[in-house]
Amino acid sequence: MLKVQHIRKSFNQLEVLKDISFEVERGEVLAIIGPSGSGKSTLLRSLNFLERADDGHLVFLDRAMHIPEATKEDIAYIRKHSAMVFQQFNLFKYKTALENVMEGLVQVQKKKKDEAKQIALQHLEVVGMLERQNYYPRQLSGGQKQRVGIARALALHPQIIFFDEPTSALDPEMVGEVLDVIREAKKEGHTMIIVSHEMNFLYEIADQVLFMDGGYIVEQGTPEKVFLNPVNPRTQQFLARVHFQK
Ligand SMILES: Nc1ncnc2c1ncn2[C@@H]1O[C@H](COP(=O)(O)OP(=O)(O)O)[C@@H](O)[C@H]1O
Ligand SMILES: [Mg+2]
Repeated sequence: MLKVQHIRKSFNQLEVLKDISFEVERGEVLAIIGPSGSGKSTLLRSLNFLERADDGHLVFLDRAMHIPEATKEDIAYIRKHSAMVFQQFNLFKYKTALENVMEGLVQVQKKKKDEAKQIALQHLEVVGMLERQNYYPRQLSGGQKQRVGIARALALHPQIIFFDEPTSALDPEMVGEVLDVIREAKKEGHTMIIVSHEMNFLYEIADQVLFMDGGYIVEQGTPEKVFLNPVNPRTQQFLARVHFQK
């Protein structure tokens, strides 16, 4: 469903992604772990062209592109069929939960307001936020805001969802409610790429794990392989520092 080949990205002199390749199959959950600054966000942002990588190829669904030459139509195609969940939620401050979920349906997918509202309400229900549909972001806890963020992503019926540290901005007691919503999305068969430091959660949910460091994928494989039997010393060091308990 998504094939990434030889992605490179620099910011001025700083080469953040040096040569990144991987594949995600339909229905698969890919976890990306690695130290802060290793390029995880840059990689996700490059996949949906919030950043444009300097080099590399993408094959997404039935479309292949050389990233530097990707056209407006290529980018629109990727954005139409994908959704992103951000660490900082990125909700519109002056829109209610319901309006936030409706926004992409109306603006991007050109649905009629009534239809958009029905779809949005369905997805607010899925994340347990139906009663708060008329609340503004400032009236919601972090966990509730992120559940709205996930409802907004799910409502678009994306082929793939990118999560960039969806629980990193949350107080610890709210992490669980957001992880539960992501577990549900996996049960529904969603294809997802999740960047997170919630190692136990990733161990449980991921089909495939990539460990990034220094602009490269240093180790990759099943959660059992990467978490329990890491071969690379850098992976071993990283896992010793984070909270992973089997
Ligand atoms: N827009 C940008 N301009 C300049 N440098 C950036 C930009 N975005 C990220 N970086 C740098 O790229 C490196 C990787 O950042 P990032 O992808 O956010 O890492 P991670 O998400 O793994 O913590 C960092 O050194 C960061 O400072
Ligand atoms: Mg990041």
